[in-house]
Amino acid sequence: MNVLVTGGSGYIGSHTVIELIENGYDVVVLDNFSNSSPKCLERVEKIVGKKIKFYEADIRDKKALDDIFDKEKFDACIHFAGLKAVGESVQKPLEYYENNMSGTLNLLDVMRNHNVKNIIFSSSATVYGDPAQIPITEETPKGVCTNPYGWTKSMLEQVMMDMQYADPEWNVVLLRYFNPIGAHESGTIGENPNGIPNNLMPYVTQVAVGKLKELGVFGDDYDTPDGTGVRDYIHVMDLASGHVKALEKINEKCGIKIYNLGTGVGYSVLDIVKNFEAATGVKIPYVIKPRRAGDIATCYASADKAKKEMGWVAKYDIKKMCEDSWRWQSNNPNGY
Ligand code: NAD
Ligand code: UFG
Repeated sequence: MNVLVTGGSGYIGSHTVIELIENGYDVVVLDNFSNSSPKCLERVEKIVGKKIKFYEADIRDKKALDDIFDKEKFDACIHFAGLKAVGESVQKPLEYYENNMSGTLNLLDVMRNHNVKNIIFSSSATVYGDPAQIPITEETPKGVCTNPYGWTKSMLEQVMMDMQYADPEWNVVLLRYFNPIGAHESGTIGENPNGIPNNLMPYVTQVAVGKLKELGVFGDDYDTPDGTGVRDYIHVMDLASGHVKALEKINEKCGIKIYNLGTGVGYSVLDIVKNFEAATGVKIPYVIKPRRAGDIATCYASADKAKKEMGWVAKYDIKKMCEDSWRWQSNNPNGY
């Protein structure tokens, strides 16, 4: 199978490219490098021991997409490309709607015109809003998103559901990721945020490496065991293997499917600090700060459906997630 991977030089995309190649898939990567570095793909090539076919292109550029689809014969697309910074999306809603919505609508149209009707889409647990139940199953109703980024995911899910309903030749797998952390075991690729990290694990690793002074813990008065926010952290290589399983599902002509990709286990912010310190031997100083706007107390998945229907389970525990995040950061204190 020849698979187009949009956003394939980003954090989750690059790890997925490795997993795809190691499972015998042919891969073509498309990225505009708006939030990634060409060096990432060079390192992926070292890991897999072969060249990766790559197009520098923007999914908003329909002509460029058309040309690529004219040249290549794709069987499916895994669509990671998008802007993902929650806070930035509040400041720049139009840019987020334009990039994520228009870009994806373009991609879907070009796919349809070239009769490539198999897609896996990167969605997010954020579509559940403040979830009506915990653990979150796929039947948990979608909720009110607290930012434009979240709305792009929620709306694009709806777009793809309507599209598949209108034309059942489409096979669509919507993957709702929980909180990806960790890195490839080699320590040569990993998450590489611009500026000061917004997410917990990159912040922790930058404190550990001495680039930041201390972690700010956003609130210790939530209704959780230690008062800090609880999330379902999942190793990025487990997330990557979920995409291989989703491709198998697509090959069964699955129609529309929705899966949570999480471990089913919740860890608090302080659990992460403790586990990171235990796994790496590096101390993480922290201070308690006010709650961050838009955050919820608890968010973790029921991962039963992905196990039952795709035979997928997350293999890696929190220790491994911390060790691998740390190997990447300590080997690459300034990223790529
Ligand atoms: P990332 O920013 O590292 O990767 C996204 C890639 O898409 C980048 O390489 C970027 O350059 C590229 N891109 C963005 N806009 C583009 C455009 N218009 N044309 C071509 N390429 C474009 O992010 P990631 O963490 O790897 O996330 C991948 C996907 O998963 C995103 O859609 C994101 O919203 C989603 N997701 C991420 C998380 C998370 O916590 N990391 C959680 C849930 C969902
Ligand atoms: N946190 C801190 N200090 C920090 C950063 C985070 O205490 O410096 C806390 C947050 O308050 C939260 C937890 O750590 O309780 C996790 O925060 P992240 O920012 O790492 O992750 P979120 O759960 O807020 O959001 C992430 C992605 C979203 C995605 C969502 C659900 O950033 O894109 O998971 O998948 F939508």
